[in-house]
Amino acid sequence: MIFEALQSKITDLIRHSITQDQTLHLICELLKTSVPHYDWVGFYFRNGDKEELKLGPYAGTPTDHTTIPFGKGICGQVALSNENFVVPDVKAQDNYIACSMSVKSEIVVPLFVNGKNIGQIDIDSNAIDPFTEDDERFLEFVCRSVATLM
Ligand code: SME
Repeated sequence: MIFEALQSKITDLIRHSITQDQTLHLICELLKTSVPHYDWVGFYFRNGDKEELKLGPYAGTPTDHTTIPFGKGICGQVALSNENFVVPDVKAQDNYIACSMSVKSEIVVPLFVNGKNIGQIDIDSNAIDPFTEDDERFLEFVCRSVATLM
């Protein structure tokens, strides 16, 4: 199972972390190159005390959406709900911010530090309905691991 192998690679990256940004970037690249249905992988973090998310390290096509207000798009909704959001088909979402015409689906998993939602991992896929509970459990693991760096 690809996610099991990735878990130990992520643990290694975290263990050998020098800077937070560099480690997050390596994790994004690792996920994007290893999982066939991950076409864009990035982290968004709360911008201080503001009700907005700021784009952090990512792998994939640059996006214009470097700031997202809470409540807007899938990411902004997760900032408020504190829950995973799996979108099998982005066309079926009203409150969605399109980054690229090739994206068909998306998953966003919140990242908690001391019980506080401080950001999220966001993954776009060019496939329709590719995400399963295995992706959710794996990405929860990624977020828990990354939280140890914060
Ligand atoms: N689609 C996201 C915006 C971020 S991009 O996917 C990089 C959303 O609706 O919040």
